[in-house]
Amino acid sequence: MMTKTQIGLTDKARQNVVKILNVLLADEYLLYTQTRNYHWNVVGPRFHDLHKFFEAQYEELDEIIDEVAERVRALGGNSAGSLGEFLELARNKESSGLPRDAQGMVGALLAAHEAVIRNLRADLEKTGELGDAGTNDFLTGLMEQHEKMAWMLRATLERG
Ligand SMILES: [Fe+2]
Repeated sequence: MMTKTQIGLTDKARQNVVKILNVLLADEYLLYTQTRNYHWNVVGPRFHDLHKFFEAQYEELDEIIDEVAERVRALGGNSAGSLGEFLELARNKESSGLPRDAQGMVGALLAAHEAVIRNLRADLEKTGELGDAGTNDFLTGLMEQHEKMAWMLRATLERG
C-alpha cells in the first residue's frame, strides 16, 4: 500500500524535484563509473597515487549516489535504478574509450565534475523556486563536495 506523502510540498513540486534528483542520480552514476574505469586502467609512474586517488573519489561518489536515491524515496518518488535508465536520463553523456594518458584521465574527471557543478547550480535554482528547502540544502552540500573533488583534480593537473 502507498501511503500519501504529506510534507507541505504540493504533489507537483515533489514530482518535479524527484525528476531533477533522478537526472542528477544518473549523472552521478556515470561519473562514478568513469572514475572506477580510470582507477582500473590508469598506467604510468604515478600509477599508485592515482589508483588510490580515483578510488577515494569513487567511494565518495558511491555515497553521494546512495544519498540522492534515498532522497528521491524520502520525497515519495521511485529512484531510477538500472543502467539503461541512467544512460537515458544523464545530462553528461558517457565518455567512450580512455584518455591517452593519466593526465588526460585527471582532466576528463575534472571536466565531468565541473559539468556536474554547473548543472547543480541550475538544479538549485529550480528547487528554490519549487520551495523545497530540504533539497536545496542537500544539493548545496553536494555542490560543495564536488567543488572539493574538482579542486583536488585541478591541483593534480597543475605543475608543482
Ligand atoms: Fe580497486
